[in-house]
Amino acid sequence: MITTSGLTKVYRSRGREVTALDGVDLHVREGEVYGVIGQSGAGKSSLIRCVNLLERPTSGTVTVAGQDLTALAGRGPRAGKELREARSRIGMVFQHFNLLSSRTVQDNVELPLEILGLSGQARSRKALELLDLVGLADKARSYPAQLSGGQKQRVGIARALAGDPKVLLSDEATSALDPETTRSILQLLRDLNQQLGLTVLLITHEMDVVKSVCDSAALMESGRIVESGTVSELLATPGSELAAALFPVSGDTTGDDRTVVDVTFLGEAATRPVISQLSRTYNIDISILGAAMDTVAGKQVGRMRIELPGRFEDNVVPIGFLREQGLQVDIAGEDPAPTPESEPQLVKEGAK
Ligand SMILES: Nc1ncnc2c1ncn2[C@@H]1O[C@H](COP(=O)(O)OP(=O)(O)O)[C@@H](O)[C@H]1O
Ligand SMILES: [Mg+2]
Repeated sequence: MITTSGLTKVYRSRGREVTALDGVDLHVREGEVYGVIGQSGAGKSSLIRCVNLLERPTSGTVTVAGQDLTALAGRGPRAGKELREARSRIGMVFQHFNLLSSRTVQDNVELPLEILGLSGQARSRKALELLDLVGLADKARSYPAQLSGGQKQRVGIARALAGDPKVLLSDEATSALDPETTRSILQLLRDLNQQLGLTVLLITHEMDVVKSVCDSAALMESGRIVESGTVSELLATPGSELAAALFPVSGDTTGDDRTVVDVTFLGEAATRPVISQLSRTYNIDISILGAAMDTVAGKQVGRMRIELPGRFEDNVVPIGFLREQGLQVDIAGEDPAPTPESEPQLVKEGAK
């Protein structure tokens, strides 16, 4: 639904050059909620602004719903007609809502509809429909100043949906909100994704956001995507930074005469008594150093750090047993094999 290839963005200001995007290949499937996470300055906002051509990429292409936006003329407010039309089908939600304080809630939602040239009656019908959809039917005549942060963001979302977009882009939409309001806004995005089949690309610096709503995620560092995949793929990738951050497990890993192993249980494997089977089958004592169960992207996931007596070589068979049960098994304290520079650093299906 959204594909960028070789996307770069270099800002030039006062004789200095800043490379904000350095060859980004992103692929967001139709109907998924895709999270891009990274620290401040990683290039996340530049990425999202290049996806809807608010910024013109320095090089590379952006395709949304099969249309190559980079081939269309103009940029920012000087976009040509075709680009403006394409952009009206991409909704955008902002961290600071960007509502006009002098206009009522309904008038704020009507604004993009005015630009699209809808008549007064059609505009007001559509705006009220959208406000109903985001749970604000009773606030149509209020002004932004009379709303809470969460309500303002609901107005922002209603406005973003005015052009019946297939794609919604969200740049830190919940970063100005408290945790409870964040949850309700994320739930709204999830509901819209499911009810309207909306594809959502969201940018965040908060791991909890990825954890609660995203089907897929990418980690951005210094203008590059360093990891990406569905959340299940990431959790099943040895050494994945995103997986470790999504699902941390603690416990000491040192020791010569013992083997420490991280076991990840996905889906129904989480409910099977694998550890007691392992203990009984091989007659070994297993210590549990750390464990957690959680729901990630709507799926039950468990992670456990266990200790087996003896060196790794002595435990090849029990570890093989765990892998045969369909579990992800990582030997703790071992670095995963480095990815060669020449290979795209994308998570591949069935990666060992
Ligand atoms: N309009 C701009 N002009 C110059 N540099 C910019 C501009 N916008 C962003 N940058 C720089 O590009 C880099 C990436 O910024 P940004 O995309 O905003 O990252 P993020 O959203 O992840 O915090 C930063 O070093 C930032 O200072
Ligand atoms: Mg940003």
